[in-house]
Amino acid sequence: MATKLIGLAGSLRKRSLNHALLRAAAELAPEGVEIDIRTLHGIPVYDGDLEEAEGLPDAVVKLKDAVAAADGLLIASPEYNGSLPGTLKNGIDWMTRGGDASRVFGGLPVGLMGVTPGRLATAVAQSHWLQVFMRLSTAPYFGSMMQLGGGSKLFDDDLKLADDATRDRVARYVEGFAAFAAQNRRG
Ligand code: FNR
Repeated sequence: MATKLIGLAGSLRKRSLNHALLRAAAELAPEGVEIDIRTLHGIPVYDGDLEEAEGLPDAVVKLKDAVAAADGLLIASPEYNGSLPGTLKNGIDWMTRGGDASRVFGGLPVGLMGVTPGRLATAVAQSHWLQVFMRLSTAPYFGSMMQLGGGSKLFDDDLKLADDATRDRVARYVEGFAAFAAQNRRG
């Protein structure tokens, strides 16, 4: 049985390093592991009045259903001002709405990756993400860490992960996370 993961980057930029990291993860995933990369495009800023008038935006409904049907969620998140980026937090917040947050997030295996051009490698953002994913009763993966500093030098002009040592790290991380997700597959 294939292991199906949803990949979500915390950046909307076309040349996002975190999106590129997700693409590398999908490329390096072992046989039998599929990473379906989604984006946050089309998700408005959360507004309770909009929700009351129109319900959940289509982009949110689609993302929720995709995550609910997946074996795990693989996040690639930048760090903004010593914390997590609001863009992705906004998407996750929307996804908890509709009265079925436990269908989407309950017991969900979550892997956290991150890349930054700076040196601190998104460690603080990831610790803040853990607070959020703990609140949502997910199953975070602690088997290894995937925090990359000096990110601008790791990718080539086409944003392909070019550094061999980092490619090995990413491959090992995806293999470990996918095995964890398969072991913790939800009924
Ligand atoms: C940043 N950046 C950043 N980097 C970091 O390592 N620690 C930080 O606290 C911050 N803070 C921060 C705030 C804001 C508002 C922006 C826009 C950027 C730099 C950030 O890591 C860099 O822009 C990444 O390239 C963003 O990720 P993507 O878009 O390349 O995936």
